[in-house]
Parts: sequence; C-alpha cells; structure tokens
Amino acid sequence: MVWDDVDACSILQVEQFEGFRHFWVLRRYLDIVGYEPAITDEELVGHRERNLENVRYTAEDRIPVLVNFTWSEHFAGYFFMRVAEQAKEPVLAKLAKFIAGDEFRHAEGGFRILQNVVNRDKSKVKDIVKAANEFRHYGNDVTDVPISLNNDFDAILKVVKKTQRICGVSLADFSLEAYEEAS
Ligand SMILES: [Fe+2]
Repeated sequence: MVWDDVDACSILQVEQFEGFRHFWVLRRYLDIVGYEPAITDEELVGHRERNLENVRYTAEDRIPVLVNFTWSEHFAGYFFMRVAEQAKEPVLAKLAKFIAGDEFRHAEGGFRILQNVVNRDKSKVKDIVKAANEFRHYGNDVTDVPISLNNDFDAILKVVKKTQRICGVSLADFSLEAYEEAS
C-alpha cells in the first residue's frame, strides 16, 4: 500500500521488527514469572486465521491507515509510559520504559510519513484531518486494545498539536466545517 514511499517502507520495517521484539520480550517475561494461562503458538495462529478474514486494506485506505498507525503508535508510547509509572515490579517497569521509547520513535516516523505526504501534495491535508477526526486505534482491527489511563489528556493534546502542525489547520475547525457541510 505504501510501496512507492521509500521513507514509509523503511519506517514500517523498523516498526515491524521492534514490535515483534516487544511481543517477544513480554512473552518471555510472562513465562519467567510463571503467568497462567501462558500464551501458546496455537492461540497466536488462531488470531492470525481470524484476522485473515477481518483485515483488508485497499489503496483508498492509505491516508486513514497512515493516520491510524501514527496516532496508535503515539498512544502506545503513552500506554507503556503509564505502565512503567504504575508497575510495582521493577523489571516490568524497566521493560515498559524501553518499549515506550520505541513506540514514541515509531510515532515520530509516522508523523514524518504524514509530513512527506503533505509536502508532496497539499490537497491531502483534508484527508489527513478527516482521518484524524475519525481516528481508530489500528490495534482494534485485530484485538481488544488495553488502556492504562482513561482519557489521557496529555497524550491526546500532544497528538492533536503534532498533527495540526503538519496540516497547518485546526482539527476542531475541520470538524465544525465538516459538520456544517453535512447538515
Ligand atoms: Fe510500534
């Protein structure tokens, strides 16, 4: 879907590798502390089988997928940062802090991709703002996404500001405009 965007391909490759590393280290952690029920390979294959049917992206989904990716990575960074703050067990807190750092880097990569999109074609701003207003955590495409802090105002404010800086317009103004157009 983003094969013609060299930066996007590089950033998404890094995200995939590091995302797998997060899964691997957390699974290993749970195995070492003896958490039950342990995650099994059969369970993972089952998830993948279900998602073969559920997840289908087309070329038209490009901007919404990029926005959902960027915002989801940003919120993942905050999720793990809050886990690190809340964890009573020091090894888990340390792991969560490392993972948060990775997620924030992935989000920065996403913002870079969106900036490139706007630099190439200013008319895409409207699509980005629309997608931001309709944000859906892309993790929800495949599983139930956990929450570490409800209505994390700091996280929401930062992601909105960063997106507005790229688009040069207010997300809230667009909402009103879109509402007025529709009514
Ligand atoms: Fe990530």
